[in-house]
Amino acid sequence: MDTIGHMGPDIHREVSIPYSGAIIVAAGSGARLGADVPKALVEAAGRSLVSWCLAAFDASPRVASIVIVAPSGHLPAFRALAAAAATPVAVVPGGATRADSVACGLEALAPALHHVLVHDAARPLVTPAMVAAVLDGIGDAAGAILAAPLADTLKRVAPGGLIADSPSREGLWGAQTPQAFVADALRDAVATARAHGRLGAATDCSSLMEAVGRTVRVVDPGAPNLKVTTTTDLALVEALLSVRGRGPVG
Ligand code: CTP
Ligand code: MG
Repeated sequence: MDTIGHMGPDIHREVSIPYSGAIIVAAGSGARLGADVPKALVEAAGRSLVSWCLAAFDASPRVASIVIVAPSGHLPAFRALAAAAATPVAVVPGGATRADSVACGLEALAPALHHVLVHDAARPLVTPAMVAAVLDGIGDAAGAILAAPLADTLKRVAPGGLIADSPSREGLWGAQTPQAFVADALRDAVATARAHGRLGAATDCSSLMEAVGRTVRVVDPGAPNLKVTTTTDLALVEALLSVRGRGPVG
């Protein structure tokens, strides 16, 4: 198993921890946000969403390499960000769906990496502490994801806006990213989904693992980890980032 060997004063504590690779999926257009650039390049509190994410993974000592999956028409902007990182960063074009973009990222990732983290560029509040927590969460499972228990009462709504029923929220959690997996297990899960024609429908990576019977654990992020979907989300995230200051904390 590959281990970290360049950790300075922490080398004795970290020496048995396996290397991880990180894939930041950033190839979506951001149709619901409606900006004039892809969502990952939209700025909040002085930096693009993808730049906040990259900073958190770059500052994570267990992340040995990073792949940014970018919109094919915007590769130079992402390559410029990659060049400024301390960790090796590859930039590759994405696919038609999020899951296709994850597959593009996996192909570009070094094969020897033991764990792989997958993160949405749309979640710029990720911190090195969250990255460490989700990696630690894997334990004897095949993966772990950041997730939070649902707080709202749920409603199933029929077309036309009338409530059909109120499903129990007991045991229901909202999935977030980063999600961390044993790399070979995620590669197998992606290949199986592709072979069965169901890769494109997956909105997160954990569901691909669950579909092939792999165990995945939830880990509470311990801090806000919103996804930017709409302009309201962008305003909220900007306020949180401004409070936190000009660099990732944790
Ligand atoms: N993503 C991707 N490739 C795609 C679609 C999405 O890499 N073909 C990424 C997005 O860039 C984002 C993450 O997957 O970081 C989560 O997707 P979402 O929040 O839905 O972003 P978009 O698809 O860009 O937004 P929208 O659905 O509003 O168009
Ligand atoms: Mg989308």
